Amino acid sequence: MGACLALLWSCGSKNQEAAKVTFAQDVHSYARPAEARSTHLELDLKVDFEKKVLSGTATHTIAGAKEIVFDTKGLKIAKTEAAGEDRQFRETKFQLGAVDKILGAPLAVTLPEGAKYVRVTYETSPDAIALQWLAPELTAGKKAPYLFTQGQPIYTRTWIPIQDSPGIRITYRAKIQTQPNFFAVMSATNDQKTMVPTGKYEFDMQQAIPPYLMALAVGELQFRPVGGRTGVYTEKPVLDAAAKEFVDLEDMVKAAEKLYGAYRWERYDVLICPPGFPIGGMENPRLTFATPTIIAGDRSLVSLISHELAHSWSGNLVTNATWSDFWLNEGFTVYVERRIQEELYGKQRSEMEFAVEIAELKEEMAKLPAKDQMLYVDLKGRDPEEGVTLVPYIKGALMLRALEEEVGRERWDAFVRGYFDKFAFQSITTAQFEEELKAKFPELKLNVKEWIYQPGLPASTPKIDSYLLSQVDAQLAKFQKGEAMETKEWVAQQWLHFLRGLPESLTAAQMAKLDATYKFTQSGNSEILDAWLVLAIRHKYAAADAALDKFLSSVGRQKFLKPLYTELAKTPDGKARAKAFYAKYKGNYHPIAAGAIGGIVGD
Ligand code: BES
Ligand code: ZN
Repeated sequence: MGACLALLWSCGSKNQEAAKVTFAQDVHSYARPAEARSTHLELDLKVDFEKKVLSGTATHTIAGAKEIVFDTKGLKIAKTEAAGEDRQFRETKFQLGAVDKILGAPLAVTLPEGAKYVRVTYETSPDAIALQWLAPELTAGKKAPYLFTQGQPIYTRTWIPIQDSPGIRITYRAKIQTQPNFFAVMSATNDQKTMVPTGKYEFDMQQAIPPYLMALAVGELQFRPVGGRTGVYTEKPVLDAAAKEFVDLEDMVKAAEKLYGAYRWERYDVLICPPGFPIGGMENPRLTFATPTIIAGDRSLVSLISHELAHSWSGNLVTNATWSDFWLNEGFTVYVERRIQEELYGKQRSEMEFAVEIAELKEEMAKLPAKDQMLYVDLKGRDPEEGVTLVPYIKGALMLRALEEEVGRERWDAFVRGYFDKFAFQSITTAQFEEELKAKFPELKLNVKEWIYQPGLPASTPKIDSYLLSQVDAQLAKFQKGEAMETKEWVAQQWLHFLRGLPESLTAAQMAKLDATYKFTQSGNSEILDAWLVLAIRHKYAAADAALDKFLSSVGRQKFLKPLYTELAKTPDGKARAKAFYAKYKGNYHPIAAGAIGGIVGD
């Protein structure tokens, strides 16, 4: 196995060298990679939990001449140095340009003749968006603080001076120094064997990745293997539950490999973050970061992990060249996620999850301006976060499904495998995808341009029927008539569909009755609890107030927080409650989430 993996590795880097390196125009980066670019990064950083600051050096290996431009945001630059092959560093001039609200400031460093390395000495700002510093109370162990980073889409520049465009790939090494009792992990090789905390850690990432996949977490972490090349890192109190929830991890990797070829990143581990983690999951290579809210006790929410795992092919191996091409990452990933689900848990479950997502897409799309309903989104002058809607995810996956239906599964699977192989360790544009598709299927009837460059859902949209959801609809009809329902053996997604399908006219008394029978307020499934709490606010079911308070105090996942705060803000009373909750708990939220919630409550 070791030799085989080593082979694949060199195969990957060969691919990368052989490929003609071209760079798509990225409106979200100041870098000019065609003139000078970084190919490798050495990080040497100290983690200061008191000051909430990372400080040290970033040394880039450079290809190019005269001047290199990095992206930065909120970084304090102390000095810049350059060196030739001999690594004798001498100070060189730099200029930090004007600050743009979205992009930050360009850092232009003068390259003397023969410069091969540039070293930047710097420190981060305590309010760097990529960094969440958690006080001990917000961790599972409650004794030690915790730090994690979130780089996507353009936050890596808030902790590293870097050419922060997904079209530019680098390898990296890192030295991280922290308190002796803490453990550090990165999106790189990690120590699974000794796990002896020393406070000094070294990492190596030999496969070239885009900057948004740079990731670091520091805390009182432990590790538990799940399979031969899979495992979980988390704090001790969560370790057992996490390992139990993820028993299928190894099988997931195998299922994905069977479909799309060898897993090229050697290990696949998952870091379960504290509940303040602002998103569901982040596909940091070799080490997915995930919210603990997916631990439901019954593995009902593990599809999130198959999504992040799928990014090991779509996203991390073949990467969107710019944030306008984001659907190449997420649409492919949702498609692959569905296929992994189908392999592991059968077609019924996978189609059910797809059907739920399609309903959500239609709901969201109805509220989006036409320009944001296209797969390729124009993001000039805009924050790339504005492109993060269900359109790239679900409309993207639907188009790929339509392609599968037209050409047939066998030919389509061969295409996707070939696509991952051909563009492995490269960043590509939507136009390149279109070209590849045309080359392989010249007779294609599907109007791909309509899918990519027109708003709405084309007439060619595949119909996804779910038997399991129609069962729920039948019971909802009974509920409307006041008849007894049959809910035996319902799975979490069916319950969610049920809660979302309850009538607007629902009364608090009806909610109390439902709660007495199905115990929603006590649900250990975060998705169900979240949907229930939204209803509790809407229908003034006060018995869930304590659960709402607890949820808002600890969970930082925006997908859950936004609907709750939005529902509260719909009435004057509710808005006052929302403001009070926000004032009390905003310190517990990630800077990205706090900003978004502040907007909702009018702060
Ligand atoms: N790569 C995304 C997370 C992301 C996207 C972060 C854009 C910042 C900007 C990740 O793979 C993802 O999509 N996570 C989802 C879960 C998934 C199952 C849809 C999430 O966090 O909700
Ligand atoms: Zn994703």
